[in-house]
Amino acid sequence: MKSLLNVSDLSKDDLNSILSFAFELKETSSNTLQNLNIGMLFEKYSTRTRLSFHTAICALGGEPIKLDFEEMNIKRVESFEDTFEILSCYLDMIVYRTDDHKKLEIAKKYFKKPIINGLSDYSHPCQAISDIFTLKEYFDNLDEITISWFGDLNNVLFSLCEAAQLLGNINLNIFTDENIYKEKRDIFSFKNLNFYFDINSDILSKSNCVMTDVYTSMNDKDESKENLLKKFQVNSKIMSQTNEKTIFMHCLPANIGSEVTKEVIKGNKSIVKKQAYNRMLAQKGILKWLNI
Ligand code: CP
Ligand code: NVA
Repeated sequence: MKSLLNVSDLSKDDLNSILSFAFELKETSSNTLQNLNIGMLFEKYSTRTRLSFHTAICALGGEPIKLDFEEMNIKRVESFEDTFEILSCYLDMIVYRTDDHKKLEIAKKYFKKPIINGLSDYSHPCQAISDIFTLKEYFDNLDEITISWFGDLNNVLFSLCEAAQLLGNINLNIFTDENIYKEKRDIFSFKNLNFYFDINSDILSKSNCVMTDVYTSMNDKDESKENLLKKFQVNSKIMSQTNEKTIFMHCLPANIGSEVTKEVIKGNKSIVKKQAYNRMLAQKGILKWLNI
């Protein structure tokens, strides 16, 4: 049974198939998901993931069904495991956003049909796949693309690292605080990553894309990283060290004034709106791949 809890659930061919399906289904509707009921279970806030899946499912002829634990018997007597076992009587797939990746793993064991990780504390595979799609669309191909990531070592970066490792031709430079690196280096032990604890204009001038994300993620328990990461804010000074073709990307939502300035995110190098739109195209690719 196919599922998408992490990018590492995919082979390189799988990822390339998802990207091809996303390009193929770009502006079209189809009946790929006809008669399929797809659960949408979000335990945390979401704008893009919720709406891009909902609209992608509808465009492919499926039926998105909003689920809420607050309205279900899991709140009274039924266990988490039994709930997912029963959900598989009615649903053909589920998109699940949660605060604890272990819950996704347990859900996968009991649901027995495709589960899509709509973000966990650990990873955000749909975001990484969509961002790879956006880079491929923008630069025409992914040959020797160099991304410079600024800030936290978080779920979005983890999935991006997995995707870069799988594809093999993406160079990833990570500008972060040394203490955060020491704390997370076992998780971020991928090949071909370059870590920097100071700004490096030579690297910036060779970057095709500068990317960042919030310093405090929705599942973070404290906000102590805000101070540590201040010097990695993506501002005009950083962007002035890039080349004329470098783009700026952010998965959104952004904490404007913290990890990125308004000038940069609203500036002419920023493609964040396109990036958000492309979530819907990438979800189409993911849904089609899961259903074949
Ligand atoms: N980028 C992203 O996943 O956005 P949402 O939290 O709004 O879904
Ligand atoms: N790292 C962020 C991503 C939001 C889409 C978070 O987990 O809150």
